[in-house]
Amino acid sequence: MSPFALTRTLPLDATAAALRADVATGLTRSPKELPPKWFYDARGSELFDEITLLPEYYPTRAEREILVARAGEIAAATGARTLVELGSGSSDKTRHLIGALTALDHYVPVDVSESALTGAARTLLAEHPALTVHALVADFQYGLTLPGTPGPRLLAFLGGTIGNLRPAERAVFLAAVRAELAPGDALLLGTDLVKDERTLVAAYDDAAGVTAAFNKNVLAVINRELEADFDPADFDHVALWDTEREWIEMRLRARTALVAKVPALDLAVHFAAGEELRTEISAKFRREGVRAELAAAGFELSRWWTDEAGRFALSLSVPVSLPV
Ligand code: SAH
Ligand code: AVI
Repeated sequence: MSPFALTRTLPLDATAAALRADVATGLTRSPKELPPKWFYDARGSELFDEITLLPEYYPTRAEREILVARAGEIAAATGARTLVELGSGSSDKTRHLIGALTALDHYVPVDVSESALTGAARTLLAEHPALTVHALVADFQYGLTLPGTPGPRLLAFLGGTIGNLRPAERAVFLAAVRAELAPGDALLLGTDLVKDERTLVAAYDDAAGVTAAFNKNVLAVINRELEADFDPADFDHVALWDTEREWIEMRLRARTALVAKVPALDLAVHFAAGEELRTEISAKFRREGVRAELAAAGFELSRWWTDEAGRFALSLSVPVSLPV
């Protein structure tokens, strides 16, 4: 068998239909809003990788520090033969884990970005030729069905991407993940932690403007896929800290009143001057909140590690039965 297989559980026409539906509803409601998954075409995935190298964007470095320090403990605690990773992107940090998991023979990266999956598989297979990589082009929020690879399975969701889901979405998502796991499996979850506003806002509004380009990339995706005529220069990148909800919100703010045409939807989108399109939330967490959300989905938090500076946490949880 070839050590690399790529399965599309997201047929191209379903992806196109989902984008059309999200644009049709999200750009005609008030406030205007789009799900963050549309950032990640090939260019968006590249821009995200650039973000991870920015001096202001600490989460990737902090999580890598924890993975390097704890990969051996994670391997000993899980004995994983299969590593499933949701929103795997470049899988760059995951390599520390893969190197430490001595019993591992299957890696199942799951992502909406096909370019990220194929790029990651190429690098990984060069380093680990005996590993079977079964990549899934899939939306981790809908109909998560994993291949029947051998257990124990470790399901990793790194980078703090869980924070890009709203609380109600997180509850549905965690319950779906729980349903995929059996006794002996484990969940490895990366969560960015609440910290001072200056550090947080700088991480989402860097001096070099890479995050602004990433944010505006969603307009390029809509232009290409739906023949729209958004001009990214008509919008300002906005990153705000919501103290109450403890999340960063990214928005695109129209510099002037404007109308953008979306011919594929026979739609004209009107923006008032200063009107904003919400493109992403990035929730930040505290230990007790993570524990409670996991418990509500049927997980028991067994390990909690942070980086030295206490900016980011990696937790290991095991599935337990929910009280009836
Ligand atoms: N895990 C990596 C990448 C994080 S970027 C890291 O820690 O650096 C978030 C990744 O999740 C991107 O690769 C993006 O394409 C993917 N993604 C975002 N929304 C998704 C969804 N709904 N389903 C599947 N993948 C998604
Ligand atoms: C993928 N995700 C965890 C990133 C985050 O920090 O919320 C996406 C991102 N958005 C702006 N910069 C990075």
